[in-house]
Amino acid sequence: MRMARRIENLPPYLFIEINKKIAEKKARGETVISFAIGDPDMPTPPHIIDRLCQAAQDPVNHRYPEDDGLAELRQAVAGWYKKRFDVSLDADKEVLLLIGAKDGIAHIPLCLIDPGDITLVPDPHYPVYPVSTMLAGGECYYMPLTEENDFLPDLDVIPDHVLKKARILWINYPNNPTGAVADIDFFNRVVKFAQQHDLAVCHDGPYTEIAFDGYQPVSFMQADGAKEVGVEFHSLSKSYNMTGWRIGMAVGNTAMINALKVLKTNLDSGIPQAIQYAAAEAFTGPQDCIQKHNAIYQRRRDLLVEILNSIGVEAKPPKAGLYVWAKVPQGYTSVEFASDLLEKVGVVVTPGVDYGKNGEGYVRLSLTIPDAGLVKGLSRLAEWRNTKSQLRLKKTT
Ligand SMILES: Cc1ncc(COP(=O)(O)O)c(C=O)c1O
Repeated sequence: MRMARRIENLPPYLFIEINKKIAEKKARGETVISFAIGDPDMPTPPHIIDRLCQAAQDPVNHRYPEDDGLAELRQAVAGWYKKRFDVSLDADKEVLLLIGAKDGIAHIPLCLIDPGDITLVPDPHYPVYPVSTMLAGGECYYMPLTEENDFLPDLDVIPDHVLKKARILWINYPNNPTGAVADIDFFNRVVKFAQQHDLAVCHDGPYTEIAFDGYQPVSFMQADGAKEVGVEFHSLSKSYNMTGWRIGMAVGNTAMINALKVLKTNLDSGIPQAIQYAAAEAFTGPQDCIQKHNAIYQRRRDLLVEILNSIGVEAKPPKAGLYVWAKVPQGYTSVEFASDLLEKVGVVVTPGVDYGKNGEGYVRLSLTIPDAGLVKGLSRLAEWRNTKSQLRLKKTT
């Protein structure tokens, strides 16, 4: 059967390929330690699960969810933004509940992009940004994120002919995959730039709560005029270890929120209500779990960065987010280095090039690996250095 061109042209989702490779290794009886996927390994905190179980017992929540999502959750989102970022949101007009941030990211171009329009996409990037634009019939212009520019896009070098056709500007801080952070001055500049060029800003911010050494990431919504030009996608996935429950939100510009709501009410029937109650509990209940998880990630980050540097893989400790963005040693491409680690010591990392052309020269390692796996992973990385020196020894003898 012939599938539509939009599907035939779609690359397989990044982690599907990685998971296939891991499965092949496991089928050969080999153990694999994976630093690939950013999926929190720690469980959802118990008070959130208790609320979920309680809500699951109530037959009202066995029926279709309310069209606009529960007011209790939308108000909890607004309350959290006020408390955490001092940002005021109208829970009816400026908050939209999502089936995870990915839901909103995948659908927003259908609200803004006509065939031939351009989306400005950072490179490297979370893979859904370009794909969702392609599905909407648009084209992407890639903005390089490099170490020299602190992994922030240089907006001033985007050509005029691109800007004339550009409709969306994607940004994402704390950044996946580079681990970079942005300050409020950068977000203020983005707002001005969007106003000048009539762009809709989509800020993807699901990692604002994962931060280290006392650093507190800012929200794009804190920038002056942010609500006039854009929305922020956020999620409970990483903050509260809730990737499996699929719940997130978009907040900000009323027109963008409304367009996404119109689209989504035609496509899906909302988020199971018991999960919405659990999410409301996450935002309004005790927040100490976040600090507890961050302390664990920080310890893992430090161990990982230390071992990487000791084997000649240059890495800086990120201030926030779940990833270490490490430089591939000389003589390898990112794919070659990732393959070498997998083949020689059964360690999975993600090649930077999988996140875009400018990811070449790097690999991404996630901190969401349970401690037992981490210890094994670290000693295998150390072993990799020995396989290298054995190789050199063989060549010289
Ligand atoms: C940058 C970025 N945006 C969005 C998402 C999707 O998050 P969610 O689980 O809320 O759909 C991820 C998940 O890894 C991500 O890394």
